[in-house]
Amino acid sequence: MSYLRTDLAGRLALITGAARGMGAAHAKALATQGADVIITDLDGGELEATAKGIRSDTGRTVTAVVADLTTNDAVDTISTTVSAAGGVLDIVVHNAGIMHDWNGFRDTPTQNLEPYFGVNVLAPYRLTRALLPQIERSTAGRIIFINSQWGQQPDGHSYGYMIAKSAQLGFMRALAKELVAEKILVNAIAPGAIHTRMVPDDVYDIELAAVPLGRLGEADEIADAVVFLASDAASFITGQTLAVNGGAHIPSA
Ligand SMILES: NC(=O)c1ccc[n+]([C@@H]2O[C@H](COP(=O)([O-])OP(=O)(O)OC[C@H]3O[C@@H](n4cnc5c(N)ncnc54)[C@H](O)[C@@H]3O)[C@@H](O)[C@H]2O)c1
Repeated sequence: MSYLRTDLAGRLALITGAARGMGAAHAKALATQGADVIITDLDGGELEATAKGIRSDTGRTVTAVVADLTTNDAVDTISTTVSAAGGVLDIVVHNAGIMHDWNGFRDTPTQNLEPYFGVNVLAPYRLTRALLPQIERSTAGRIIFINSQWGQQPDGHSYGYMIAKSAQLGFMRALAKELVAEKILVNAIAPGAIHTRMVPDDVYDIELAAVPLGRLGEADEIADAVVFLASDAASFITGQTLAVNGGAHIPSA
């Protein structure tokens, strides 16, 4: 037996929100380990450039699907793309996310929560329901949510984001309990502050000050965790949240 068993040759992975940032890093990392990847995002221009880069760096088959995950059309298009790629989906990384404000409760009207629930909860719910028959055909099915330290430990701002990420963890646990009977493993990664466009200049110093390790994380450091959870190295792990946050939040259990 070899360690770590992270070879993903012959597997098909879908990564959402993969035009840039962490999603692009997950896709490249999974392809580097031998998986073929389907990447999807709203942003067609950046998505195509990312697909081209991963193809040339890894030699794997990379299929780009431009889609807004909050729509039913997106789900149909992605499902058709998986069918065209053989119809067996081994790995799903629910990575797409939005983060628009740092407002407190009093400045967050109820309707401001809706986009966050749309992208973080309803989109992965709808997509997982549509793709489940294709995931069930895999002998190594994995579903991975890119959550947040704020899903584990909400702070006093960004209400839509924090409540939606907390709800996403509830969905992850419920799904893990139900799908374990079919040997589909479901987990989450909770990144701390990561150096992507989601951390704009005006909050960079605030985010940095909250990381005991003294720096923001890099997208590749989350991608390593994705590879681990997607691979045979994590074959006995389900229903868990892996915190990758430089010590910013240390869960009690
Ligand atoms: N950067 C951080 O500090 C941080 C920390 C914790 C968790 N996260 C989470 O990590 C994930 C990746 O974030 P990132 O930092 O790479 O941000 P990012 O903004 O660089 O990337 C997010 C991607 O999701 C896509 N997206 C958004 N809404 C979509 C939709 N409706 N349909 C399709 N694609 C959509 C965007 O176009 C973008 O390419 C998110 O879920 C985010 O909440 C980020």
